[in-house]
Amino acid sequence: MPAAGGIGPGNGKEYPGNLTPFVTVSCIVAAMGGLIFGYDIGISGGVTTMTPFLQKFFRRVWEKKEAAKSTNQYCQYDSQTLTMFTSSLYLAALLASLAASTVTRKLGRRLSMLFGGLLFLAGALINGFAKAVWMLIFGRMLLGFGVGFANQSVPLYLSEMAPYKYRGALNIGFQLSITIGILVANVLNYSFAKIKGGWGWRLSLGGAMVPALIITIGSLLLPDTPNSMIERGQTEEARAKLKRIRGVDDVDEEFMDLVAASDASKLVEHPWRNLLQRKYRPHLTMAILIPCFQQLTGINVIMFYAPVLFSTIGFGDDASLMSAVITGTVNVAATLVSIYGVDQWGRRFLFLEGGVQMLICQAVVATCIGAKFGTSGNPGDLPKWYAIVVVLFICVYVAGFAWSWGPLGWLVPSEIFPLEIRSAAQSINVSVNMIFTFLVAQVFLIMLCHMKFGLFLFFAFFVVIMSTFVYYFLPETKGIPIEEMNQVWKSHWYWSRFMEDIDYPINGDLELSKGGQGAKNV
Ligand code: BGC
Repeated sequence: MPAAGGIGPGNGKEYPGNLTPFVTVSCIVAAMGGLIFGYDIGISGGVTTMTPFLQKFFRRVWEKKEAAKSTNQYCQYDSQTLTMFTSSLYLAALLASLAASTVTRKLGRRLSMLFGGLLFLAGALINGFAKAVWMLIFGRMLLGFGVGFANQSVPLYLSEMAPYKYRGALNIGFQLSITIGILVANVLNYSFAKIKGGWGWRLSLGGAMVPALIITIGSLLLPDTPNSMIERGQTEEARAKLKRIRGVDDVDEEFMDLVAASDASKLVEHPWRNLLQRKYRPHLTMAILIPCFQQLTGINVIMFYAPVLFSTIGFGDDASLMSAVITGTVNVAATLVSIYGVDQWGRRFLFLEGGVQMLICQAVVATCIGAKFGTSGNPGDLPKWYAIVVVLFICVYVAGFAWSWGPLGWLVPSEIFPLEIRSAAQSINVSVNMIFTFLVAQVFLIMLCHMKFGLFLFFAFFVVIMSTFVYYFLPETKGIPIEEMNQVWKSHWYWSRFMEDIDYPINGDLELSKGGQGAKNV
């Protein structure tokens, strides 16, 4: 099976090793970190349409919603406290991901995962038993700290454990588990909303304890990665672990490369400052723009607020949650398509096809909602077929995202950074993603209230910009070993100007980044 990330061993090296049950199970357990992130993304939107939840914590929003039943639908959920509930998690995650980089480096990936799991657990407990708004927001911040720790350590863990041939596929496995988490949250919201007595929201929020326990217990059982062990001076134990992980005795070449990569990364004292060098301009640009664009597709408007959105466009509360379940299913299925196609069709094709697909859908949805709701936000009677068409186009939009910017927004940055800046650049990627996730979560309801159906055109505008950017500035990275990636920039019509020959020795590569998988920096 070709690596889904298009990553082969550099310079003809082929490390021996198999996809052993040991590595498979370890990666599946570790990928559960994505499940928790997804659960968090999916749960809040549904909970904030549950009437008993609104009545208990956000009474003014509920009163406004009731009063607005037949008037302005766009503004019925506009509340700063309500958006704070949703978006506090991402701000906390941003802070935690910066702190987690030190824990991950100095104490190992497993400890970061353990912290992540424990923080989730505490957050889920506080949320499940919440009696006041401050408990809700405090609990969500704890969940956010958990997300920050998990998102910092889990992708690193996966790419260090995976044999190089499967690294790409396993990376998209992380995205797949995010989408499964979102779907599970949607299904649970749908069922819990039906519970008599109106306490179903407690189960939805408290339910985060289950994936939290899985990752907490999992992190205690998981082996540490050889990279991390070497970095922390456990060199001989690391060699034995590598043999076990790869299922072969002959691991010398990979092991030496891991040691060399670790030594090299220790020599770089200021990876953050390094990033500002001229030769890293393309990498820095991608580390900032890719996550920023991923969020400006507007996907999280659907992921966080699908039930709110569907209820706004005229579905009953129950039908709204059901529609969110449908979009969640489409999200998972379309991610599988990208796992299948990313190495056959290439990243650029998926980015561009997904962009066109999202653009068309956004235009149709804006037109449909604009035509019915106008600027007054009063739809009158909404025919059923009309709402179905809107949901259909939202599904096609979600599919477009799920096989383009969703997985590629994580995969492409992870495959383009050279060894010596990989860790710092990856942190920028995660932080920018969290900042923009926070911004979209925080301003969406206000934007819906003020921009009305124009909101969809706002995101459509960015889809045009990002697709143009990909067309002109993102080189194809399919099937190119990480170690050869400099060639991609050197032969690019624009980025080549930053790639002076002097930066790279005669063979076009950096000596210490030769070692295929061993070229990983941490
Ligand atoms: C994004 C999330 C988004 C999810 C949807 C991820 O790649 O980072 O913000 O909610 O995809 O599936």
